[in-house]
Amino acid sequence: PIAKPVLGIESSCDETGVAVYDLKAGLLAHRLYSQVRLHAEYGGVVPELASRDHVRKLLPMVRETLAAAQLRVDDLGGVAYTAGPGLIGALLVGASAARALAWSLDVPAIGVHHMEGHLLAPLLEADPPKPPFVALLVSGGHSMLIAVEAIGRYRLLGDTLDDAAGEAFDKTAKLMGLPYPGGPELARMAQLGTSGRFRFSRPMTDRPGLDFSFSGLKTQVLLAWQQSDQTDATRADIARGFEEAMVDTLRIKCLRALDTTGARSLVIAGGVGANRRLRQQLDEAARRHGFRVYFPRPEFCTDNGAMIALAGALRLAAGQGDSTAIHVMPRWDL
Ligand code: KG4
Ligand code: ZN
Repeated sequence: PIAKPVLGIESSCDETGVAVYDLKAGLLAHRLYSQVRLHAEYGGVVPELASRDHVRKLLPMVRETLAAAQLRVDDLGGVAYTAGPGLIGALLVGASAARALAWSLDVPAIGVHHMEGHLLAPLLEADPPKPPFVALLVSGGHSMLIAVEAIGRYRLLGDTLDDAAGEAFDKTAKLMGLPYPGGPELARMAQLGTSGRFRFSRPMTDRPGLDFSFSGLKTQVLLAWQQSDQTDATRADIARGFEEAMVDTLRIKCLRALDTTGARSLVIAGGVGANRRLRQQLDEAARRHGFRVYFPRPEFCTDNGAMIALAGALRLAAGQGDSTAIHVMPRWDL
């Protein structure tokens, strides 16, 4: 069992995240660098550029994070890194650095599932949720409902049949001419829009089941936008209608998942968990229906090293942590 701080490294996509987490003392320090400006001119993440930038940023950030935690490298008891899913080159940068560091220090390394990191992120906060709980994971690549029976024991309740929730935000933003990455910008615009002028359907809520489908919603927005006067005011009103449809759909499915499992706690994780309307609506639903809802702080909703350090620390404490092979899984089921 590891009684010393664990270094966590996240490099699965376009964010370099580094953190030190200690099971007793909690989060000791964390650093995050977003490559978003690097990729903006291409309208999406360019994998090769992402890998190269992780190489540039990672080791200086490890040094900075250790300094901020007032630790020396040999104070570490283990190293955790995101082993997948994600971009293979980007993953390999984090995996190689983590394995090399762990090997040189003679401490265990462990590859962490990126989505496990996301769904345990609320454990970084005070008053953390205790299993069993239901987790809604909504990011750029995933929209999943998961029954967390225990830490490490996860059951998939529902998944998206097409676009992920964050992907739907980003694509909807793009089709109305917003720059990449459009999700947060679309959400900002929705705050300015008028409710009720555009109403879109709540996909798959009228039939049983916990799966999602968002590509039809995107098409509805496209038609509405093409048939409109395309002014800034209309863009904001459409954004509002889209966000309301998305948040309603997620709320309805969360309530259904709580009903199905009998769990009384709900965890929201992943980038879309930073969305203000989603947070407000679920807070309100929790009050009305008598369950508890847990959110990571917004900066730990999106990709970060802290969630990987935490998930890795828990797994290392449970005696996991393995061979010295550098192995990543661009596709990997939770
Ligand atoms: O978890 P994350 O940082 O990366 C993935 O693992 O995908 O999630 C990024 C996604 C993007 O699609 C982004 O548009 C979305 O989260 N996102 C938001 C907001 N902030 C980030 N979507 C809606 N409202 C927000 N405030
Ligand atoms: Zn993520």
